[in-house]
Amino acid sequence: MSAAPAVQVSDELRTPLVDRHGRVHRDLRISLTDVCNLRCTYCMPAEGVPWLARENILTTDELLRVAGVAAALGIVEVRLTGGEPLLRADAVDVVAGMASIEGEDGPLEVSMTTNALRLPQLAGPLRDAGLARLNISLDTLRRDVFAALTRRDRLDDTLEGIDAAIAAGFAPIKLNAVAMRGVNDDELTDLLRFAVERGLELRFIEQMPLDAGHIWSRPQMVTGEEILEALQQEFTLTELPGRGAAPAERFLVDGGPSTVGVIRSVTRPFCGACDRVRLTADGQLRNCLFSRTESDLLGVLRSGGTDDDVARLMHACIAGKLPGHGIDEPGFLQPDRPMSAIGG
Ligand code: 5AD
Ligand code: SF4
Repeated sequence: MSAAPAVQVSDELRTPLVDRHGRVHRDLRISLTDVCNLRCTYCMPAEGVPWLARENILTTDELLRVAGVAAALGIVEVRLTGGEPLLRADAVDVVAGMASIEGEDGPLEVSMTTNALRLPQLAGPLRDAGLARLNISLDTLRRDVFAALTRRDRLDDTLEGIDAAIAAGFAPIKLNAVAMRGVNDDELTDLLRFAVERGLELRFIEQMPLDAGHIWSRPQMVTGEEILEALQQEFTLTELPGRGAAPAERFLVDGGPSTVGVIRSVTRPFCGACDRVRLTADGQLRNCLFSRTESDLLGVLRSGGTDDDVARLMHACIAGKLPGHGIDEPGFLQPDRPMSAIGG
């Protein structure tokens, strides 16, 4: 198993990752791989995925080194994403290494966003390795819809993965559902009932323009408003205060204790409170899901850069962060990479 290396960052660089708009960055999202065992239409093309060059995928040691430097700059939470993070052979080792890194408030809090397909084998080991929280993607409970949406007939495996996560003792477990018109917008209440019955926290997400096919369209998108209206046909929702930097607006369901979240990235952007920075599987730092530029951390790591060089690049990346993503503005351009190559 990989142990996290001690990092050596000079005092003058050991400062919080603050951008020009005063946002302090505390959450690092790391994509472990761009490979996936599903092909969700809002994320990947059916075929002909332009995979990242294998030799450019960060090694476990490189990932732990980056996380160590990030922790010295005030990052307290690391979220592992993909593609599908559990397709990386050393995923459990990465979790264990990350969870042993000391941040400002103690060890890094390590969480993961997964499609659950490998959780029957890995939920237990992940929990033992120190994974704090799990987010699982589940957009439909209907087998035919699942097969059409993910282009793979694997609803049963996903549900088994969710059961495995519950059995392994993860709590809370969050479910993510992207609402799509004509696909799953008639089963939003079914999804919420499924979550409530199992004690899972469901969050509905407005679809963002991150699909490989560039077919996203604003009028087609199911809005948060529509999602809430649909849920209120069957449930009483009471808004909870105190959202902070979290993307989800949360509501008590029928008086609680269950809650449901709505992530209105498009119609109610939360960029002003964003505390997130992303690292792609091939070592590019992105200050936003939608940024048009990247900072080449891979180059620094593979050319003998010091921990100070890594820290300097992180500060520079954050310094260049724009105030918002501008999805709703004229002239908005979708990022060149699809979601699978950026990391959720
Ligand atoms: N819009 C909104 N959410 C998306 N996700 C992936 N692609 C998109 C998109 N285009 C979400 C998935 C998954 C997480 C990794 O990101 O629901 O839960
Ligand atoms: Fe795979 Fe997640 Fe993309 Fe679906 S959304 S194709 S599960 S990476």
